[in-house]
Amino acid sequence: MRAEPSRRGLTLMDVDEASGAVAGPVGPPSVAPRGAGSEPELAPREWEINERWELWADNLVTLYEEAVSRQWCATQDIEWSRLEELPPDLERAMCQFNTFLTMGEYLATDVLAPWLPAFNTYFHEIKLFIASQAMDEARHTEVFRKRIYANGGGMGMTIKLGSALSAMGTPTAETKGGAGANPLFSSWDHVSYAIHVVFEGAILSMFRFGEFLGKTDVDKQIFRMVMQDEARHVSYGTMHLKYLLENAPDPDACRRQLEQTATMAEMFFLDLFFMHPATVESCAVLAGEGVDHLADGLEVYKALYRKMREEYLSRTARAGLDRTGSCMFPADLPF
Ligand SMILES: [Fe+2]
Ligand SMILES: [Fe+2]
Repeated sequence: MRAEPSRRGLTLMDVDEASGAVAGPVGPPSVAPRGAGSEPELAPREWEINERWELWADNLVTLYEEAVSRQWCATQDIEWSRLEELPPDLERAMCQFNTFLTMGEYLATDVLAPWLPAFNTYFHEIKLFIASQAMDEARHTEVFRKRIYANGGGMGMTIKLGSALSAMGTPTAETKGGAGANPLFSSWDHVSYAIHVVFEGAILSMFRFGEFLGKTDVDKQIFRMVMQDEARHVSYGTMHLKYLLENAPDPDACRRQLEQTATMAEMFFLDLFFMHPATVESCAVLAGEGVDHLADGLEVYKALYRKMREEYLSRTARAGLDRTGSCMFPADLPF
């Protein structure tokens, strides 16, 4: 077999085409890489997630290829020397917002990465993609941490989102269906919906407001760089949701469970993110260009929220889950 490089170089798609070892519906109970044989005495290996419908997205392999070709370096690719001094209220708000983001990046990895050993090796695409996401999130934590200390500010306040999510995020027997299980984190579908679709979808919408929230060109550059990575994470979550709805063996049960997950995830993030004073106030100070224009900033934050909600509703509807009538995000924020 001879895989030929295509225009972008030798991709996993080229290898699939040459080998014919493409992902079928079910992975075997084995550690064998897809396409490999096994020595006779090789013991079977059970995996927790073995079926394509449970993990697949039609763009999974291309997203991975994009992830590796677009890695960037927080040390060198950000023009740190061009960072301009900000008035103290803006610097402080920026540091608080970046503290929230730093924490959010840890959360994504802490919740997602423990699922890596659950996936059957046969579906290498998901293992590679989630590993690349963990690296993306590490770089995001790094870049926000660097920003916090690069301009005369410092770390802000940790909010409850951190402890609430990390306590529930590790897939122990308990969280995966035991008596004390939190349904939000009991299966890969729920985890992916809560993190990729709701949480990262909202972060992506926020970075689209980078022009309002970023007060220096360097801040805007950071948001732009992070945004391109987040777009991949959200894209996987959305396309996985679509695949799931179209391919789950019991589509009605799958839809009912997803509706429940969506309701819980929406309430969770509404409380600990969109309506949390630390997020609202830091973003409003930034958007209003200072504490003296908090009311103006609040209007921008509310516009950001409405846009976020709109993007969430159209993203989920495109995937086949219409949340218009049941979404827990109110049409506008009550302040
Ligand atoms: Fe991130
Ligand atoms: Fe992300």
